[in-house]
Parts: sequence; C-alpha cells; structure tokens
Amino acid sequence: MSRFDVQLKRVDSAFARVLQEVPLFDNPPLAADWLRCEMLERYQVLQHAPVATGSTVLEVGSGGHGIATVPLAFRTGETGRVIALERERWGMFREILTQAGYRDRVRPVKGDARQLPLASTSVDLALCVHGIRSLRSEPIMVEVFREMLRVAPKIFLAESLPVAVNDAQRAHLEMYDLRQEFFEATTGQRDDLHYLTAERLGRLLGEAGGVVLSSEVVEVDLPHALAYFPRDLLKNAADPKRREELLARWDRAEQLLRVHGTDHPPVGVILAARS
Ligand SMILES: C[S@@+](CC[C@H](N)C(=O)[O-])C[C@H]1O[C@@H](n2cnc3c(N)ncnc32)[C@H](O)[C@@H]1O
Repeated sequence: MSRFDVQLKRVDSAFARVLQEVPLFDNPPLAADWLRCEMLERYQVLQHAPVATGSTVLEVGSGGHGIATVPLAFRTGETGRVIALERERWGMFREILTQAGYRDRVRPVKGDARQLPLASTSVDLALCVHGIRSLRSEPIMVEVFREMLRVAPKIFLAESLPVAVNDAQRAHLEMYDLRQEFFEATTGQRDDLHYLTAERLGRLLGEAGGVVLSSEVVEVDLPHALAYFPRDLLKNAADPKRREELLARWDRAEQLLRVHGTDHPPVGVILAARS
C-alpha cells in the first residue's frame, strides 16, 4: 500500500471522496497523483489551524491548483467562505474547485497581499499555507503579515522547514534549494525562497506587529514531488559560469531524488495574533 493510501485512511471519508474527484496528471517525472498527494498534505497541516465551520477565511497565495483551497473549503463547510487571494497564477484553479464541488464556497480575488482589498477585522482567520516561500523577500513577508493581522484577529502560517530527518527529505531540500538561485539566474527575480526556520518566521511576525500564540512542527510522511524542475530550464541562465555551477548542482540533486525519492520536510505551523 502506498503512503498516500495509508494517510488517506486517516482522513474524514467525505474528504477522501473529494480527493477522488481531483484530476490525475500525465507529466513525468511527477507521479500521476501528485496533486491528490499535495492536497492530502495541506489537509493534514490544516488540522492544526482553528478553522470553524461556517467561518470566513482568507487564504493568501492560493496558487494555480487551489492545493490548500480545496481542503480549506472542506473545513469551512457549506455555510462558510474561503476568499482565495492570488496575485497572478490562476492556472487550473476554477476547474479544480468545480471538480471538487466547492466552486460556490470560494471567492477568488486577484490582488497583492501587501494591500489586501478587505476591511479591518473582516474575516475570522487569515492564513498562508506553503506560500511564504513565494513572497520574494523578508520585507515583503513583513508587509503581508501586517496586512493579514489587520484583516483578521488571528493568522495561521504553515511553511516547510529547512530540516531533513531522512534521506528523501535531504534529497528534496537539495533540489528545492536550487529554485531560488534558478529564478534569480533566469528571470533576475527571486522566487521559491529557501525555507525559513520557525524562529526566523516568529521574528518576522514580531516585526509585523504580531505575537506568536502557538508554534508546532508537523511531520506529514508523504512524498513531495514539487521541488523538481526540468534541467533544460537552467540553460536560460545568462551567466555561463553560474549556469555550469547550477547544472552541476542540479545533477547531484537529481541523482539524490532518484536514489532516495523525495519527501515533505517537517512543516512549521504558527498561530499568531496582533500584539
Ligand atoms: C507556492 S504558491 C501556492 C501555495 C498554495 N497555497 C499551496 O498550498 O501550494 C504561492 C502563491 O503565492 C502567490 N503570491 C506571491 N506573492 C503574492 C502577493 N504579494 N500577493 C498575492 N499572491 C502572491 C504566487 O503567485 C503563488 O501562486
């Protein structure tokens, strides 16, 4: 039995049925069920968030597949609402929400989380799940956390930690840690920043005017294919010396992925409020 099947047995059977509606993909080397696997991970992480049935929740950085949006809409229920805020990547969002049966529970909003288009204390909870990495710099993270604290009495942050306790997590980190430099070398702009420690996240929350109410580390025990990116993309790096260096690192990381597989690192989850 795969680890996905093992973990699936532990979730609410109604959510397991929703996952069966989520599309499979034919996009090797990603596993066909990568999206179901990721949503199951988000479901597990969100078990640590105080999401009440019938509540209104803001999700910052929902991304093109609604990976956390679907389990979140399951948690808020038929009478609740998820406001899914995303700057630019909508991709398959609407299609996946429709297939999951949650199109009516979610209000997609295009916007920048540094200036949320919401009144103060207008939602019950604001959260960002595996999206802090996309905020491009620590000053931007502080701006976004400050805005989240303005619109909600409590905020919930979940992000992978730069920690590996097994070889598959080490392999994930080797490939993932290439992504920040890959974006910088090919587009001139950082993305997929190196994961921050929980302590660093706590300090940034403090700078944003927040106070940490609780902080936990969640071990999900699921594969995590999303660090991978095709080698050919590195050929777009303009500086030849940098390109060779990144290609050599990619080769080492890819070999580790083949030998050990790739697992989710532990996830830091933080609940915070205005200080
Ligand atoms: C890693 S992705 C998707 C995270 C998703 N919640 C998940 O569970 O996988 C993070 C998203 O945040 C978006 N993003 C980055 N900066 C943003 C900003 N300032 N305002 C709104 N969205 C932003 C990116 O476009 C990206 O789609």
